[in-house]
Amino acid sequence: MKAAVFTRYGSPEELHLKEVEQPVPKDDEVLVRIHATTVNSGDLRLRKADPVFIRLFFGLFRPGKKILGFTFSGMVAATGNKVTRFKTGDAVLGVTGFGFGAWAEYKSVREPLLVLKPGNISHEAAAAIPFGGNTALYYLRKAGIHEGQKILIYGASGSTGTMAVQLAKYFGAGVTAVCSTDNVEMVRSLGPDTIIDYKKEDIAAGDTKYDIVFDAVGKLSHRKARKLLLPDATYITVNKGLAKVSNENLELLKDLAATGAIKPVIDKSWPLEQIVEANRYGDLGRKKGNIVITVGQGT
Ligand SMILES: NC(=O)c1ccc[n+]([C@@H]2O[C@H](COP(=O)([O-])OP(=O)(O)OC[C@H]3O[C@@H](n4cnc5c(N)ncnc54)[C@H](OP(=O)(O)O)[C@@H]3O)[C@@H](O)[C@H]2O)c1
Repeated sequence: MKAAVFTRYGSPEELHLKEVEQPVPKDDEVLVRIHATTVNSGDLRLRKADPVFIRLFFGLFRPGKKILGFTFSGMVAATGNKVTRFKTGDAVLGVTGFGFGAWAEYKSVREPLLVLKPGNISHEAAAAIPFGGNTALYYLRKAGIHEGQKILIYGASGSTGTMAVQLAKYFGAGVTAVCSTDNVEMVRSLGPDTIIDYKKEDIAAGDTKYDIVFDAVGKLSHRKARKLLLPDATYITVNKGLAKVSNENLELLKDLAATGAIKPVIDKSWPLEQIVEANRYGDLGRKKGNIVITVGQGT
């Protein structure tokens, strides 16, 4: 099968399209023919080994995993003997887990990391759901979000931020979204109650305080965040801990996407053959929502 392979940490140019062996599903795995995947901040960090301690987990001198790509949408091509929830021909979306490997034509994945793809959304849109969606859901739940709370979401234009705004509205919170001037219109379309343009306003200048401050991009200083908190309020940041993926989260995200309660934001889309270009764009750190990669026929 065709895959984007890298054998050294570094620039986008380390990625090369190669023919590699197609994975064979183990008993508890599903083989997915990938139609769409994404280039997200996790892939970019791994490719660059940034921060450097990543090397302790993924290979000190060379990457242990040669194919990146964490999310995907595609069709079930084969199933292992113990798989019960999926059959060949099902349209699915999901994540790879720490094995990565979605920048390829096929990937074998454990059953709980998959859900059925709603029929009313494309593979491109489906692939753009789980990374930001699961991260946002994990942190919002960690903060104990509930109806009637006031939440400020910093970095509302990124993969996590765009999902956090929509999910916080779903949970019934009053949402203030913070983004740059260029992203105000896109973020407005996600339905927050208030938008602060951080290029024009100091977010800590006003008197408004929040029950939750969620730094969805890891760029808000603790000092500033503290000024925004009500007594007993919660401050959370994507920089702390790892957002665990659960089947329950994937099921909820899939259901919300099916009803239109959440809509993944796609900034740009490239075919797998242009994975280097997509990585160069991702490295700029300014993407709006998600970068999608189509594999084969895409949608
Ligand atoms: N803990 C975990 O498990 C976990 C999971 C996922 C992600 N993360 C981390 O979370 C971070 C965000 O990831 P992501 O993929 O969701 O983000 P992303 O999509 O890469 O975020 C890009 C967006 O951030 C905005 N941005 C950049 N600098 C900003 C700043 N100083 N203030 C406000 N907005 C800014 C950019 O727009 P403008 O530049 O125009 O503002 C752009 O729209 C990454 O560092 C990633 O490693 C952690």
